[in-house]
Amino acid sequence: MQLIKLSATDSTNAYLKSLIQGVDLEDFTVVVADTQMKGRGQMGTSWLSEPGNNLTFSVLKKFNRVSVEEQFRINICVSLAIYTALAPYNVPDLKIKWPNDILSGYSKICGILIENVLSGQFIRTSIIGIGLNVNQLNFEKLPNVSSLKLLLGQEFDLEELLYAIVGHLKVFLSTNWEHEFDVLRASYEDQLFRIGKPSTFKNAEEQLFMGFIKGVSRSGKLLILLEDDILKEFDLKEVKLLY
Ligand code: BTN
Repeated sequence: MQLIKLSATDSTNAYLKSLIQGVDLEDFTVVVADTQMKGRGQMGTSWLSEPGNNLTFSVLKKFNRVSVEEQFRINICVSLAIYTALAPYNVPDLKIKWPNDILSGYSKICGILIENVLSGQFIRTSIIGIGLNVNQLNFEKLPNVSSLKLLLGQEFDLEELLYAIVGHLKVFLSTNWEHEFDVLRASYEDQLFRIGKPSTFKNAEEQLFMGFIKGVSRSGKLLILLEDDILKEFDLKEVKLLY
């Protein structure tokens, strides 16, 4: 794995994205930074991380024949890779929250931001951005956020975690999706936050509704069993899981 270490940058996703304009980098090139000045989160939010105490990094992966409709496959692999890397540390109640978070109980410890470079309807390159809260102890003004050190009471080696996550990413992203995607999807569902439990959601019109998460569809939509016993698929913009 080619590792580019930066002490500071705006965003490792942005850095890697601009780097691939001019250079042909190998798969699984990683850009890691101690500090991000403009860390990007989902839906235009920002990602805040204490300098030097956490992992903020981006991984490059090229694809040949993955269409835009199949992009959630990448997301499933990334979530499972992080989950698998963290599982040996016995993080309490470790879960994958659809679509982009890793939680311990109700606290977020990791966020994922995948940015794709397209060519027509195909994903040519994915920039897989991962922010993992590792040794940070203070999350003032950020409710429901935690770190491995807060949860487990010990300091973690950042590079060791980085190599573990990227190692698992290589394995998951090289599975044969034609044959094994449903197995990956089942593993993902096994670890899904609030699966099978009565949960409250907010729809795009900001209305609250109740339902039970049943899983994810092959295209990555969240399957929710509604109170009237109808199973409905929701995409990212259509639903937010509250609790
Ligand atoms: C989220 O939960 O909103 C996604 C957060 C993703 C943060 C990571 S940190 C490394 C990479 N570079 C960025 O600017 N963002 C991602």
